[in-house]
Amino acid sequence: MYQIIDGKKISQEIKDELKEKVTALKAEGKSICLAVIQVGSDPASSVYVGNKKKACAYIGIESLAYELPEETTQEELLALVRKLNGDSKVNGILVQLPLPKHIDENAVIQTISPEKDVDGFNEKNVGALCVGSKGFVSCTPLGIIQLLKRSGIEISGKHCVVIGRSNIVGKPMSLLLLRENGTVTICHSRTQNLKEITKQADILIAAVGKPKFVDETFVKEGAAVIDVGIHRNENNKLCGDVDFEKVAPHTSAITPVPGGVGPMTIAMLMYNCVSSVE
Ligand code: GUN
Repeated sequence: MYQIIDGKKISQEIKDELKEKVTALKAEGKSICLAVIQVGSDPASSVYVGNKKKACAYIGIESLAYELPEETTQEELLALVRKLNGDSKVNGILVQLPLPKHIDENAVIQTISPEKDVDGFNEKNVGALCVGSKGFVSCTPLGIIQLLKRSGIEISGKHCVVIGRSNIVGKPMSLLLLRENGTVTICHSRTQNLKEITKQADILIAAVGKPKFVDETFVKEGAAVIDVGIHRNENNKLCGDVDFEKVAPHTSAITPVPGGVGPMTIAMLMYNCVSSVE
């Protein structure tokens, strides 16, 4: 029988731990404030931003919401980021991605002060992760490490295969697994004989971006499978990068979609906000 890793429950535990910490910090006279910027009105982004604001309210973090019109220029957005960089009341700055096409995402990310970059996307924080020094780490991979640890899944010495090499998930995920002493292989769209590699994984992380891409032919019997994808299927139901029904019976543990990795991203964003003050 396989374990279904309950991201909703684990994220709730983390949020409750953080809520206690914030109460203690407030007693010392410290407060936490996160600025969330959304440009345009992409419906998925609006849902994510709404959930982030809700999580802040639950934990006791003040959130400042900036909802800017689609036509906002890059210079206007950069000016707001610079203003927030200089505002001592603001501890964290998050610019929701994707941004409209006329804005250079990288220019925006690199303008956020590394000390306020609670997404962990700034080059300084990515570099810190790479060399093993302190810094903010991207929330989704950080959440996956918590899911594994809190589900009793050993990483050290295990073969961890990551499918996907994005800056937000694949690359930081690989570095974090390495930091936990995993033996890490990164696969991507140009990888040859993909299944031969994924079938060697003790821990398989699917961050492909294609619905139900991973079926049972990708998975070694007894592996732990983590699904980072979130898509709508033909019946408008949520599904992941992994075909859960086909894969689950072959695993020792697997995350569902929804209710697996998704809720962890926000919990770890809250974790990063609290660490920015601690
Ligand atoms: N869009 C999708 N995921 C993320 C994330 O983790 N952070 C931000 N800022 N935007 C996103």
